[in-house]
Amino acid sequence: MRIAQNRIDFPAYNTHGVDVFARPHCALIDIYESGDHAHIRGTTTLNRDPLLLKRLSCVAHALKAIRFDKNPLDKTPLKQLFAACSVGLDAQSQALTHELKGLKSGKDIDIHGVDISARFTACAREGYFPIEATDNIPDTWLERIVFDGKYTNGLRFEDMGITFHDAQDIRDHKERYDISVVTNVLYHMDKDTAIETMVHLTGQTSSIIATDPASIDKHCDDLMPILYRNGFMNLTSLLRQAQNVRPVSALRENAESQIFAHVSVARGIVEMCGDKAQPVDFSDFRL
Ligand SMILES: C[S@@+](CC[C@H](N)C(=O)[O-])C[C@H]1O[C@@H](n2cnc3c(N)ncnc32)[C@H](O)[C@@H]1O
Repeated sequence: MRIAQNRIDFPAYNTHGVDVFARPHCALIDIYESGDHAHIRGTTTLNRDPLLLKRLSCVAHALKAIRFDKNPLDKTPLKQLFAACSVGLDAQSQALTHELKGLKSGKDIDIHGVDISARFTACAREGYFPIEATDNIPDTWLERIVFDGKYTNGLRFEDMGITFHDAQDIRDHKERYDISVVTNVLYHMDKDTAIETMVHLTGQTSSIIATDPASIDKHCDDLMPILYRNGFMNLTSLLRQAQNVRPVSALRENAESQIFAHVSVARGIVEMCGDKAQPVDFSDFRL
């Protein structure tokens, strides 16, 4: 049972090895009760899972191409949800990754965030990553975006065009999405809540659902049947097969976030992967 949610000072948190680049926002913790002990769980950081975010940009390009094939006049942006978005760092990192990969927020894709905590969504709305905090960021993509003059006053989430909804349980959020990302939260849920949450997400998501390895691992027997029953297939594996590559090791594969695609788009994405004429870069799925 969660007993508290708190923001704590970064210096105290530093000893736990938190990524220094996420300093302004990552010191947010959930405290869970278990037996006689309170456990700290659940931090969030900027660019926490860059490979997942890059793969999702690639998949978004593929979805746009599929949409264009069906109706060249349909210019509506894709909609991507970050379910349990906390203070919005995943959403912001995704917006930056999309931008680097040529997808514009607002024009090509609209990003939304939902979290059960009003404090977190308020923090997300005002999200601000001071320029000083980006001093040592090694990732060239972030440097390019920050230092090409566009965000010289720091990164504001509102500049990235992300919509953070009022505090809500994922299961009560009724909008429809092309892509839903639910990382590092199913893991914290009991079996019934995780099942209800996944049933809800499969109902509100037309094309892509992504989640983290720990959640898959913990609830595998309960969540996989829900995904399969509702027509979602493991796209990460399908794209690897299509490119005739094996994961570096089974251990590595199990440690990856997984992307599931609905049958209505999975075949199209996989075909695109083998089609040299398509401008979508699937190399991030070769790893
Ligand atoms: C560990 S954080 C994960 C944040 C982010 N998704 C990430 O991967 O870094 C877990 C978040 O889930 C939120 N949360 C927990 N249960 C939820 C629910 N049923 N609906 C919406 N948000 C929930 C918490 O408030 C917290 O912000």
